[in-house]
Amino acid sequence: METSPARLVVAPPVDPDELVGHTPLVHLRRLAADRPGSPRLFLKMEAANPGGSAKDRPAAHMVREAWTEGLIGPGSTIIESSSGNLGVALAQQARAYGVQFICVIDPRTPLTTRRLIEAFGGELHVVSEPDPATGDWLVARIEAVTSMMSAVPGAWWPNQYGSSANATAHADGTMREILETLDGDLAALFTATSSTGTLVGCGDRLAQEGVDAALYAVDAVGSVLFDGLRGARELPGLGAGLVPPLAARAAPHDVLRVTDLDCVVGCRRLVEREALLVGASAGGVVTAAERVLERFTPDDNVVLIAHDGGARYLDTVYDDTWVQERLGCAPPLLAQLVADPSSGSRP
Ligand SMILES: Cc1ncc(COP(=O)(O)O)c(C=O)c1O
Repeated sequence: METSPARLVVAPPVDPDELVGHTPLVHLRRLAADRPGSPRLFLKMEAANPGGSAKDRPAAHMVREAWTEGLIGPGSTIIESSSGNLGVALAQQARAYGVQFICVIDPRTPLTTRRLIEAFGGELHVVSEPDPATGDWLVARIEAVTSMMSAVPGAWWPNQYGSSANATAHADGTMREILETLDGDLAALFTATSSTGTLVGCGDRLAQEGVDAALYAVDAVGSVLFDGLRGARELPGLGAGLVPPLAARAAPHDVLRVTDLDCVVGCRRLVEREALLVGASAGGVVTAAERVLERFTPDDNVVLIAHDGGARYLDTVYDDTWVQERLGCAPPLLAQLVADPSSGSRP
């Protein structure tokens, strides 16, 4: 049997155009088949990036831009707050460029993510308490970054929450790739939101190319984005405890809110129906999209972004005991929700 030659890629220093991006767009045939009249559903699998998440795109863009502009160089230290994925991505970039990296995380960051950051040579700074005024972890992480910026010589803060390069990475990467794959034929895009870089960047590209697709923001119940009410959230990646400057440019067609349990149900449904293991926010996107499928026709192409894979959530989303203890959902009810998500109560 003849095999095609492997694509030659250059090892790090990571060239974003070589290693980051070009992620698969998977046709979700079985999930759509569960609901007659469904549109064609596709999942953009961002776990295929070298650091395992969509955050490789903004990390590559922000660091390359800073290097080119002389904001960082030999001896610099990158400092950033991350729920985990951007931390892994920046740790890889920092290693590739030969600079230091300190990642400010909180106790919700999964152990695997922490170990990945350390494996790339990054240093972890774990904030131990949420912000006393708001009770929010992100606010506490940003405060830690701000005070470290004046204490660490040669420090540079990419600031994903305000960086236009964060959004540009998704305009030039994520959205460009989706439109190319579908020949511009897109009815709707569903994306989870936190820094809102994905939402803003994808929206920018749609506007640039004149594609009239509906942009759905999937946000957490408890997130303050889009005038949300602050509340407790267990799972990282989705939602925000402060409104990032980038969000001022966010113009979603609609905002759909999901609970932690909605995320778990969506993740488990994707495993059961499509044999795909995705991360928590992607599960939320699946659940949110399934709730509004009647808004589309069978000729519509609808894309869901899966920001990361499920391997980093084996101790939470994919652990029945965790789901029962932290989210109060016992295995029989979970199985029922996975079989028929509409059987549960909605927020
Ligand atoms: C798993 C996951 N999902 C969704 C998001 C949200 O993406 P964005 O920050 O572009 O809004 C993030 C961002 O960190 C993430 O890590």
